[in-house]
Amino acid sequence: MTAQETATAAIPVEMLTPEDARLELARLSGVLEAANAAYHRDDAPVISDADYDALKSRNAAIEVRFPELKRPDSPSEQVGAAPAEGFGKVVHRVPMLSLANEFAAEGIHDFDARIRRFLNLGPEAPLAYVAEPKIDGLSLSLRYERGRLVQAATRGDGEVGENVTANAGTVGDIPKRLRGPAPEVLEVRGEVYMTHADFVALNARAAEGSGRVFANPRNAAAGSLRQLDPKITASRPLRFFAYAWGEVSEPLADTQFGCLRRFEELGFTVNALARLCDGPEELLAAYGEVEAQRATLGYDIDGVVYKVNDLALQRRLGFRSTTPRWAVAHKFSAERAWTRLLAIEVNVGRTGALAPLARLQPVTVGGVVVSNATLHNEDYIKGRSASTGEAIRGERDLRVGDWVEIRRAGDVIPQIVDVDLSKRPDDSVPFDFPQTCPQCGSEAVREAGDAVRRCTGGIACPAQAIEKLKHFVSRSAFDIEGLGIKQIEMFFNDPVLPIREPADIFTLEERDSANLARLKNRLGYGEKSARNLFQAIEERRRIPLDRLIFALGIRHLGESGSALLAQHYGSWPAFEGAMSAAEVGAGPQWEELTSIDGVGKVLATSVVTAFHQEAERAAIDRLIPHLRIENPAPRATTSPVAGKTVVFTGTLERMTRAEAKARAESLGAKVAGSVSARTDILIAGPGAGSKAKDAERLGVMVIDEAAWLDLIGAA
Ligand code: IVH
Repeated sequence: MTAQETATAAIPVEMLTPEDARLELARLSGVLEAANAAYHRDDAPVISDADYDALKSRNAAIEVRFPELKRPDSPSEQVGAAPAEGFGKVVHRVPMLSLANEFAAEGIHDFDARIRRFLNLGPEAPLAYVAEPKIDGLSLSLRYERGRLVQAATRGDGEVGENVTANAGTVGDIPKRLRGPAPEVLEVRGEVYMTHADFVALNARAAEGSGRVFANPRNAAAGSLRQLDPKITASRPLRFFAYAWGEVSEPLADTQFGCLRRFEELGFTVNALARLCDGPEELLAAYGEVEAQRATLGYDIDGVVYKVNDLALQRRLGFRSTTPRWAVAHKFSAERAWTRLLAIEVNVGRTGALAPLARLQPVTVGGVVVSNATLHNEDYIKGRSASTGEAIRGERDLRVGDWVEIRRAGDVIPQIVDVDLSKRPDDSVPFDFPQTCPQCGSEAVREAGDAVRRCTGGIACPAQAIEKLKHFVSRSAFDIEGLGIKQIEMFFNDPVLPIREPADIFTLEERDSANLARLKNRLGYGEKSARNLFQAIEERRRIPLDRLIFALGIRHLGESGSALLAQHYGSWPAFEGAMSAAEVGAGPQWEELTSIDGVGKVLATSVVTAFHQEAERAAIDRLIPHLRIENPAPRATTSPVAGKTVVFTGTLERMTRAEAKARAESLGAKVAGSVSARTDILIAGPGAGSKAKDAERLGVMVIDEAAWLDLIGAA
């Protein structure tokens, strides 16, 4: 913008002179045209929908006041300027999961040991793996029915992706028809990527044309696949490697390696560096081989994926909440760079943790510009590990003005791994970590055994309150469209329609109508965007119980813990009643809570405490009446043990405890750690002790391992 344009942008419509109005209409036409192009053509919006609406209504208001100044290319005349629907949604019948990461060789030995423990295999028993390069692109699921490509979907959130069938059909490596006999239904999964050479050529063309270039081949591949116009995708040089599958009507093979061979026969490209390996040592050798070729492959990879080869074993190993137990991604080690530490800032998190952050002289590390790095806690700044007390960086502390080495590993937040004392300024001083909350001034205390210092202000501390709200609206929680971090910050400090706690979100519309100063024409909202926001909030009044529990932002309580609590208690009144009645450390409610498998004492203490903190509790009570809470469906209702609470005791002979538990849970049973009146079945192996006696006393059904396997149809 020119200085003159900046000036007109700030003037209210009714105060514009004709000359201002002419300039302002020209500016708005340019801004809106660019926004349209970014949204529709480039798949990379540059402004929010709310800002877009506000600019459009400003343009229209000026045209009403100065009809003679309306431009021939006026944005109000443009059809199709409203954001298009985008892509249709596809629900993945088999979720598209991600992989756990490892960075060190030691972690790979642990991976193998974990699997052996789970399967009860001795250290000498044969156990084969496949090592495959981890392609740095975006994953895609291709559905074939009777050999024809019928649907292609991006990963999305793993459960629901975008329908990009028309675009996938233009990718050369993706067969529209399978070669030879194939299962009736076959979902092939793999990675869409772009080679370095194609990326450079595409950017050179783009630089001459629109001037908008992609930052790296991965972004270029994603931007190209997610084009609303398949003709554009067709003009972009995309490629595809097949490495996994979703739904299949009959198995392709009985090993991972066999499936890769079958993919090739069916007409897919499979990465040529995939290797069969006998154990961790061979995996690490394959890793070395792939890493040595990394620079000359001509496309980006960011590690090597190890998968158990035998699919029957993969099935037994199963999944944690979002990652398979039978695979791991061994990432390439992080990239490093030296730069200046400009400042140390201390932020306050959702649970009150004082989180120190390094502000850095921006530096490029592995292709990404880094200007912040986490400093973890006060001991880390001093050069000591908070958990073990051991020296880190040779116990060299960090000071403002220091010359520091940054490491960035994958998507992990950058870290400071070294400091060069020879370049330390003479006048530097050790960092003085605050003992009070920098936001609300409350005392900040560090409890014994805790690495972090916490603000004691609770939700009275504005920093904690706002972080809790950001968590509340986040994607895995209430996920309200148009109410993200930016809007929360805006509303939190708004004197007219403030949002200071979750309940305020659901009274926003009511307060808006009761208020003379409406949201419309304020905070960048127009009539339409305000209505959209209210609508999006309205849609989220209905909320699944596990999401609600997660949204409360209770310390230590993540998504999987929330799901366990929702599944166990089954309804909000049951959960709330139990937590209100519970006392930390004793009593029937405490016993019940801690008998839920996966709920430890730390988590249980935190949840019970949250329900007994006055201010926090009051905020929850104000929220609940605004919601319609959906109870979780009992899992796997067709299984004979769905909804039953079972306890294992004694020695199991056919499977390990971990496998037995995972199996029972996948069939919808709850696995508890101790016997109570709520227990339905006790599975007692040889050596069962007090639990068997408890069961007898309580009249709980007791069966042995063989009868259990019989019951679940696994005998
Ligand atoms: S297997 C159930 N194999 O990495 C897990 N993934 O971090 C299925 N990726 O979302 C994934 N190369 O996009 C697998 N050879 C490979 C891969 C690979 C790249 C990606 C994939 C996945 C992500 C997980």
